[in-house]
Amino acid sequence: MEIVLRRGNLATRAAGALALGIFEGEARLGGAAADVDRASGGAIRALLKTGDFAGRWLESVVLYPSRGKAKRVLLVGLGPRAAFDARRARQTAAVAARRARDLGARVLALVAHGAGGTLDPGAAGEAAAEGALLGHYRHTAYRADAGAPALVRVEILERDATRFASMREAVERGVRIGEGVCLARDLAATPGQDLTPENLADRAREVARASGARATVLGVPQMERLGMGAVLGVGRGSEHAPRFIVLERGAARAKERPIVVIGKGITFDTGGISLKPRENMHKMKYDMSGAAAVLGLFHALPALDLARPVIGLIPSAENMPGGRALKPGDVLRALDGTTIEVTNTDAEGRLVLADALGYARRFRPAAVVDLATLTGAVSIALGHLAAGLFSEDDALAGELLAAGEASGERLWRLPLWDGYAAEMRSDTADLVNSAAREGGAILGAVFLRHFARGMRWAHLDIASTAWAPSDRPLERRGPTGFGVRLLCEWLSREATARTAASSARPRGARARAAGRTRAARA
Ligand code: BES
Ligand code: MN
Ligand code: ZN
Repeated sequence: MEIVLRRGNLATRAAGALALGIFEGEARLGGAAADVDRASGGAIRALLKTGDFAGRWLESVVLYPSRGKAKRVLLVGLGPRAAFDARRARQTAAVAARRARDLGARVLALVAHGAGGTLDPGAAGEAAAEGALLGHYRHTAYRADAGAPALVRVEILERDATRFASMREAVERGVRIGEGVCLARDLAATPGQDLTPENLADRAREVARASGARATVLGVPQMERLGMGAVLGVGRGSEHAPRFIVLERGAARAKERPIVVIGKGITFDTGGISLKPRENMHKMKYDMSGAAAVLGLFHALPALDLARPVIGLIPSAENMPGGRALKPGDVLRALDGTTIEVTNTDAEGRLVLADALGYARRFRPAAVVDLATLTGAVSIALGHLAAGLFSEDDALAGELLAAGEASGERLWRLPLWDGYAAEMRSDTADLVNSAAREGGAILGAVFLRHFARGMRWAHLDIASTAWAPSDRPLERRGPTGFGVRLLCEWLSREATARTAASSARPRGARARAAGRTRAARA
């Protein structure tokens, strides 16, 4: 499905479906709604008069007007004008795209809702593009009944020349980010049989090639030479050897310290010798959702215009029982020399991340953020509407929380108090990898903190948000691609804040900074 921005009038566009948002409690139709109403012979006003449709948030109805160029007019409620924001604009486009797909329309025409004044046109355009892609998404790779996707094109129409001009780049960015999320969803939905660490490395190489990044993949001999005992330990029970994937983009601008983003890449988590119970074990194919988010981010990076280099690190292994598998009680030596007594082979995520954090240090990063489906406990704490955020750096935590609100991928901060660390001490080695059940998400984060010491670091436990338990406007039940939009938002804002802070610089730099501010997501 392609998304195009077109100069033109919604009312005169021939399309299988035309989507139109209506604000709640506004009797007078304005803008595109008035045009479409006129072209369709007053169909919308007639409907509103019956009271059957009031424009309540995400309420929707389909009209089949006897006049006008569109086969179907899809009305979507925008709710009260005062409550309308970029998040709602995104969801409106998502609902319209999904509905059009289900109806079998081939072309959907819509306007970027909010562009007429409630939102900045760029933000509205980006939200429309992103929302349409996300709402339309389905994972069909393994379905015999998938067929050709009905909806082949979404056209975002804008009449006004100035608004059109300021929407162009933003729509392009929305498309790249939306594609990045869909890529992450596809990867997480892929069964373990078809996504081993080796396959994941191949996918990473493809993403790098398409986004101007460099990919380096370390195999077992290289990891042995470096001393990545933790990743190697986790991968030992599997027929599919582990990989350590490094992606680098923008490293030529070496003056800037890079941002490092780490994604847990367990391609399947059986629990190992500490085997998981059978219920829901099939979902553990998504235990590489952190890695998927990093790859989705790299897909989107060319559209973000960042000054800093971005490094992606993906420690990848399959966690299996077997004759050679890691046993409870075994001691591993991580890259930084720390020894770890493995008290539970199912706490494997923190082991592979330990080596990735050790590796991150060599880049002298400005910040490190890891994303990991680390604990079931984070879902017990937060349900499925927020990921757990852990950081000792209040400024970094604040930036991430704000990016979460703006992108709609929400975070909730949990503590990292020193008192918790005592539980992770081992009698045999430096640390244990698993302790009490209570506060499980925090204990996992406290373990990681040891390996992140001295770096500006945040940990996101996305086990709660990487899989949606039921259909929502932007995502169907299943893998969500959580983290891609959050990271894009955070990195864009970070770039804007830095250029704004250095506005005392010469004119050229200031002009560039202003450009970026305008392009920033609202
Ligand atoms: N991948 C799991 C965490 C997980 C559980 C993600 C459920 C999504 C849904 C992780 O490797 C794991 O098994 N964690 C253990 C940690 C425990 C052994 C300390 C857990 O959450 O039970
Ligand atoms: Mn596990
Ligand atoms: Zn796991």
